[in-house]
Amino acid sequence: MSNNRTLTSLINDANNFSCRVVILFSMILVPITAANMADAATASAEISGHAATPQSTPSATTPVSPEQERLYLIQVLQKRIPGTNPNDWVVGGGAFEPGVQATPLNADNATNSADILAIGKKLWDRKFVDGKSLANCFPNGGKRVAAAYPQFDTATKQVVTFEFAINRCLQLHGEVPIDYANAAVIGPLSAYGKSLADGQKLAVRVAGQGARDRYEAGRRWFQQRIGQKDFACASCHVLRAGEQFERAGLAPAVGQAVTWPRIQPGGSIRTLQAQFQRCMLRSGAEPFAVGSDEFNNLEYYLAYMSNGLPLKPLAITTSAAAPTATALTTTPK
Ligand code: HEC
Repeated sequence: MSNNRTLTSLINDANNFSCRVVILFSMILVPITAANMADAATASAEISGHAATPQSTPSATTPVSPEQERLYLIQVLQKRIPGTNPNDWVVGGGAFEPGVQATPLNADNATNSADILAIGKKLWDRKFVDGKSLANCFPNGGKRVAAAYPQFDTATKQVVTFEFAINRCLQLHGEVPIDYANAAVIGPLSAYGKSLADGQKLAVRVAGQGARDRYEAGRRWFQQRIGQKDFACASCHVLRAGEQFERAGLAPAVGQAVTWPRIQPGGSIRTLQAQFQRCMLRSGAEPFAVGSDEFNNLEYYLAYMSNGLPLKPLAITTSAAAPTATALTTTPK
């Protein structure tokens, strides 16, 4: 991430939206420094309509509660895409590709999905050397628990994604943890574990200062412009939500976290954090590793923004669009 550029904020004053877009796309590049991070927090505070003092640390300038931010973001996105609501957004960017419906399960990927779940179940039920299995590490054997992830672990002060919790269980029982980049293994396992909470409303909690700091770190990554293209996640998934990038529809930030993992064209699996990597490449930035603190924090923020929406692993097929960055297909409004 050494080539990362500036820090700017984006999430926005819904009443002054077009103006914000112009500001976003005309910001001057500056390298990332601690001071800039504080600036970003300040800017976020301003656009959220709450005053913040420039001297404050990011966590001290926290403008609004995560819940207020979620509701505010929904309002902003509804201005972008009138007549829609978060339940419409969970189907992903495909909804904004003319002629292409968000790909629901058809006969082919229904078969894929059943196969993936069967592989996942085998891995989930596998007995460890000590005779236990993954079910022993989760309340209710894992039923209805995945909707409460990511979680903040007060002991280690880390964000624990559902996949992280799986690996922590393996380690606790003397088993070899799974490489997060190995989507062929962690994908089916995560899909199966999440299927035990299928349809449960996402209920991510951010309670206490430690959790809040992680959430804020994720929020900053979402709003920070990065890479040669100088895009923030929010450039595409808030300011351009409902538009297209290289013919791929841009899904709104609210609703992005509930339908993972996804099946890729061809039947393989994509995890949420592998999607983050695709999008960083798109911005011309060197992606963080899957399972990194940066991505875990980012997932924590993004998942919170999807709170209340039903968890649906494997529900849709990913877009096949290549993650190369050129120009946005529409000009800033
Ligand atoms: C230049 C525009 C652009 C930027 C910047 C961008 N994305 Fe994306 N994103 C896309 C496109 C296009 C897709 C459609 C799927 C694909 O081809 O990868 C997508 C898909 C996604 C999805 C799946 C969305 C869905 O519901 O269909 C997630 C999650 C996501 N991006 C997260 C992020 C995060 C996190 C960042 C910041 C690190 C980010 N994106 C930055 C363009 C962008």
